[in-house]
Amino acid sequence: MTAPLNERPHVVLSAAISIDGCSADASGRRLILSSPEDFDAVDALRAECDAILVGAGTIRGDNPRLVIRSETRRQERRSKVMPPDPVKVTLTESGQLDAGLDFFRMGGAEKIVYCSRVATPVLRSRLGTLATVIAVETPARPEFILADLHARGIRKLLVEGGSAVRTLFLSAGVVDEIRLAIAPFFVGEERAPRFVSSARFPHSKNRRMTIKSVEQFGDMIVIWYLLRPGSN
Ligand SMILES: NC(=O)c1ccc[n+]([C@@H]2O[C@H](COP(=O)([O-])OP(=O)(O)OC[C@H]3O[C@@H](n4cnc5c(N)ncnc54)[C@H](OP(=O)(O)O)[C@@H]3O)[C@@H](O)[C@H]2O)c1
Repeated sequence: MTAPLNERPHVVLSAAISIDGCSADASGRRLILSSPEDFDAVDALRAECDAILVGAGTIRGDNPRLVIRSETRRQERRSKVMPPDPVKVTLTESGQLDAGLDFFRMGGAEKIVYCSRVATPVLRSRLGTLATVIAVETPARPEFILADLHARGIRKLLVEGGSAVRTLFLSAGVVDEIRLAIAPFFVGEERAPRFVSSARFPHSKNRRMTIKSVEQFGDMIVIWYLLRPGSN
């Protein structure tokens, strides 16, 4: 059952894909899909959020910093009595996350890891004070994570991927808005990760999403979809 909207954060899911629906190529290395203008728009979106969530696969593969790049936006957050960077959140069943990763090392924001009970003791000792490791039954349920984040004061959450995490949150029906940025090129590889993998999604052919806006950032087209009209 989905938590009432007032007991979980507003969830925005953001992804960049190629024209053939890939969110990366098959190399396992980071693929740049966005234009500089789109990166800046995502930075602005991050600056509006209390927390950013990515899967452990993205942390291991891309080593993202997940901090606000613009000093002006960081100052604006300070003036609103917000921390300069959003809280960083991840999920892992294996606990295979290294303390040297930029997720843990960059920025002063709190880092939260939802980890399987079995892997939690080792991960806690590896990360020490770098992160709060929360032991959960795995596979972790998005509803549980959202309720826990809400209890920690998170009111707006940006889910940035990767494919497994997008599939998890979208199939659970807990996403309020999708920001989909489309790059003007093909990846063309069968083994490349897609926007989502196979699952049952609440928004299938009989329940179409609503378009909120269509924007252009450099050569990227950005479509905003509302999944729960009225909740944005
Ligand atoms: N284009 C974009 O916008 C964009 C954005 C982000 C990432 N990416 C790309 O996406 C790729 C990574 O995607 P991915 O699908 O491989 O990985 P992912 O979604 O980032 O992370 C998957 C991992 O998260 C953990 N996980 C997922 N669901 C869980 C659950 N219910 N409970 C506990 N742990 C859970 C597991 O970690 P463990 O394996 O540790 O158990 C799982 O292997 C990279 O190539 C990256 O470049 C693209």
